[in-house]
Amino acid sequence: MNLELNALINGEMINNNEWLEIISPIDLKPCGRVPALKANEINQAFSAARQSFATWKKTTLFERIKLLKHWSQLLLEHKNELAKIMAYEVGKGIKDAEVEIERSIEYIDYTIEEAKRVHPETMTGDGWNIKNKLGIFSRIPKGVILAISPFNYPVNLSISKIAPSLVMGNTVVFKPATNGSLTGLFLAKLFHEAKFPAGVINVVTGRGRDIGDLLITNPEIDLISFTGSVNVGNQIKQKCNGKELVLELGGKDPALVLGDANLAKTVKEIMAGAFSYSGQRCTAIKRVLVAEEVADDLVAMLKTEVEKLTVGSPLDNATVIPIIDDKSADFVQGLIDDALAHQAKLVTGNTRQGNLLAPTLLDHVTTAMKLAWEEPFGPVLPVIRCKSLAEMVKIANDSNFALQASIFTNNLDHAFLIAEQLETGTVNINSKSQRGPDSFPFLGIKDSGQGVQGIRETINSVTRLKGLVINY
Ligand code: G3H
Repeated sequence: MNLELNALINGEMINNNEWLEIISPIDLKPCGRVPALKANEINQAFSAARQSFATWKKTTLFERIKLLKHWSQLLLEHKNELAKIMAYEVGKGIKDAEVEIERSIEYIDYTIEEAKRVHPETMTGDGWNIKNKLGIFSRIPKGVILAISPFNYPVNLSISKIAPSLVMGNTVVFKPATNGSLTGLFLAKLFHEAKFPAGVINVVTGRGRDIGDLLITNPEIDLISFTGSVNVGNQIKQKCNGKELVLELGGKDPALVLGDANLAKTVKEIMAGAFSYSGQRCTAIKRVLVAEEVADDLVAMLKTEVEKLTVGSPLDNATVIPIIDDKSADFVQGLIDDALAHQAKLVTGNTRQGNLLAPTLLDHVTTAMKLAWEEPFGPVLPVIRCKSLAEMVKIANDSNFALQASIFTNNLDHAFLIAEQLETGTVNINSKSQRGPDSFPFLGIKDSGQGVQGIRETINSVTRLKGLVINY
């Protein structure tokens, strides 16, 4: 594949004759190029977004819905082409990429339905000797939204920021991750084809070092919605001049396996949670905390399943695929090496061809190892054996990350009691951790993020209340 796509600024598909090559994780060779934009174009994108906001916010909800529906129809028509781009650009299996596009189309439909039901709240004022007041509180768009998406879900995690923003009357500057930029500009092409008014949605690409700071410090921004690494998230926090932020920054989701868990079901969920898309999901299961009495059985069953995983190319729909780049593979390998150097036991895996890492299961991992705490974003699963429920909960809570957790048990009392003690965004009982369904509120605490996403929640975050008080 060798694609060349243009950016979308103020209704025009443009480039500045400078290019950024996109390196495919499949063979570490270029699979296309996108404009390496600079300050001039970035500023134009924000000015266009600000100018068009004045008219876009006055359009009717149904005018905005009509355009979004048209765009969503185009996405469906181009599903196969887009899935192929995703496979080359971010290494997602073709089938998984198609599912991601279908999921995103559903996201748009759901968003549209939610938007139709955003009604003003009306209340009477009847306290503190105040009477004869009727307050009407409506949700109005915040203005210009900067949406920055990660590589791993280049369609879903873009649309989940863009669709609620647009339908509620905001305008958007969208910057996809470098791997994800071809996908982002393909979406831009469809926005152009759907004939969104100039400036309402702008899609920009370029090197982070050239435009990262320019993007997040632009004075036109009313809200930044970012999904990506903790490092970049922290930089945004420091540099964004107090702009409002919604951040989703990764996790180290634990699966707590109690002594009475149904191990067959537990293994099925852990496998899907830990290894799909080579573990490159913020919500992947990234550590197993298991009761000692079932640890041998659990590890043996996991080993059998890990060894059945298909390893290879996303074009052949393998489960374990080359991870996004060599540097990331080195990082994962470093965590494995550190664990082994500290006497973790290799159960299976730990072979590597470039950025294709075999699925790796490590037992007897301890809290002294980096792998117990750091987020690998790769196909490696550490098992930490625990002597008590209290120890399990302590290790789960000692992490800097707190996105989701899973509890596997047949005892609902235990599940509820432990869920109550876990300091995390969401607790799943007897299932892998997972952001979907997208209509659920999605949030992380501590280093995992700030603010809440989800369809209704994102509609709330891209709007603010405005009151009108009638005195009679
Ligand atoms: O990487 C984070 C994605 O939002 C994961 O979505 O958990 O529904 O697969 P998912």
